[in-house]
Amino acid sequence: ATIYVLNGPNLNLLGKRQPEIYGHETMADVEAACRATAEGHGLQIRYLQSNAEHQLIDWIHEAREDAAAIVINPGAYTHTSIAILDALNAFERPVMEVHISNVHKREEFRRHSYVSLRADGVIAGCGTQGYLLAIERVARLIAAA
Ligand code: DQA
Repeated sequence: ATIYVLNGPNLNLLGKRQPEIYGHETMADVEAACRATAEGHGLQIRYLQSNAEHQLIDWIHEAREDAAAIVINPGAYTHTSIAILDALNAFERPVMEVHISNVHKREEFRRHSYVSLRADGVIAGCGTQGYLLAIERVARLIAAA
């Protein structure tokens, strides 16, 4: 089975962008760690990042065809995008929402998530380990399905 790991805007700058909040690991580091964790469960990964809302929506549509689960860090679209929520509502398998930072400890506007209306689980404030925790969770949900 394949898990889509989707990353939204500005996450391409991971490791360079506000490292005091988001840490020093890069997207390539996170991708490698996700692959290793998934492989440990016999799962494949499709790891993607885009700054464009339409691209994330198109990938969620593609996931309808071949993904057993979606792990998504929508970046700031978390707080703004009804369109990403609608796309996820059209996906019928597990969805985990990941935030590297603890969004509840930051500005008030980060506390509301449209994506949380659909996500089966949410991980925030665990740094980039949150992606690995989310993969562990979907691996369990896929095995139980
Ligand atoms: C983020 C939190 C969002 O509020 C922010 O806009 C991001 C990253 C996180 O991973 O902590 O871009 O999703």
